[in-house]
Amino acid sequence: MTSSNPIQTIVVVGATGNQGRGVVRAILAEPLLASFHVRALTRDVHSHSATNLLSSLQTPSKRLSLATADVFDVKSLELAFEGAYGVFAVTSMWKAGTRCESEDELKAELESGKNIVAAAKQAGIKHFVLSSLPNLNKASNGRFRKLFHFDHKAAVQDLAMQELPAVTALHAAIFAKGPELTHGKTYPVSSRMLFSDFPKIFTEVTSQPAVHEPTILEEWRSSQLAVAGKGFVEDASQMMEWTAVAPTDKILFGTVDPKDDYSWEDPGVRATSFPEWIKKNSWTAPAEIKSTS
Ligand SMILES: NC(=O)c1ccc[n+]([C@@H]2O[C@H](COP(=O)([O-])OP(=O)(O)OC[C@H]3O[C@@H](n4cnc5c(N)ncnc54)[C@H](OP(=O)(O)O)[C@@H]3O)[C@@H](O)[C@H]2O)c1
Repeated sequence: MTSSNPIQTIVVVGATGNQGRGVVRAILAEPLLASFHVRALTRDVHSHSATNLLSSLQTPSKRLSLATADVFDVKSLELAFEGAYGVFAVTSMWKAGTRCESEDELKAELESGKNIVAAAKQAGIKHFVLSSLPNLNKASNGRFRKLFHFDHKAAVQDLAMQELPAVTALHAAIFAKGPELTHGKTYPVSSRMLFSDFPKIFTEVTSQPAVHEPTILEEWRSSQLAVAGKGFVEDASQMMEWTAVAPTDKILFGTVDPKDDYSWEDPGVRATSFPEWIKKNSWTAPAEIKSTS
């Protein structure tokens, strides 16, 4: 982190969503980032999620602001990134608010990623942090070629690393460490557990009985067709097929040797374990199971 400007702004893309909201909260709460301001991007500053973000996370010194931008409109991103020090970016698998009826629609993630990188370059962003995923076509030696929502994120990451001076995948605490230490590194912030371990851990933590009932691939495909749309079925299916054969000695979807994971050493973050997550969220069962029991 090098600049003489006492106020530095981090723009958070997708700030009203799951990942972005957590990043906004983390930046505003981190003492090492007390001089940083956050510009939260949204398509509609008057929406419930945007006004709620502002009212619940605003600080006494008003370090949080909202700005309008659309990731499919590069000019709007350039304006939103103007004068900022850092950007935290997430990309969505397909256009928000629509179903995904053809695989072509998944290319929207590439388009939005290219726009975000181009705008960051134009605005002279000094530290670009990207929520990314590994390229599983490569990891599977070409066996799984339709894991678009992984490979498109990896392609955006590659582009960002080519185009921008300092890029880090993945975590917001990275801004406190600065680009000198973290540039070019990927932090998996990930662990690995087997689906078959879920019920044992769940029962240990909640004292509630649980069983593991594996589904078959066809059932999984049907559920994805119903929930997401035809265009995402192969992607979702290959994700599960890869999960079944991915190297068990590697983390991050079987792509990273644990000895190459510097998540704890550099930014000092590690993935929340499943027992910790259950406790933190007081999670007792998926809503659909609770309503039928
Ligand atoms: N690593 C993993 O294992 C993992 C797991 C789950 C999800 N993901 C990835 O995370 C991504 C979604 O993240 P999330 O769950 O945080 O998203 P989310 O909660 O669905 O929120 C989406 C965010 O994107 C913004 N947005 C949507 N369309 C936009 C547009 N055209 N221009 C500007 N902003 C736009 C929305 O803002 P407004 O509505 O306010 O404009 C909102 O803040 C997915 O692509 C998925 O691949 C990864």
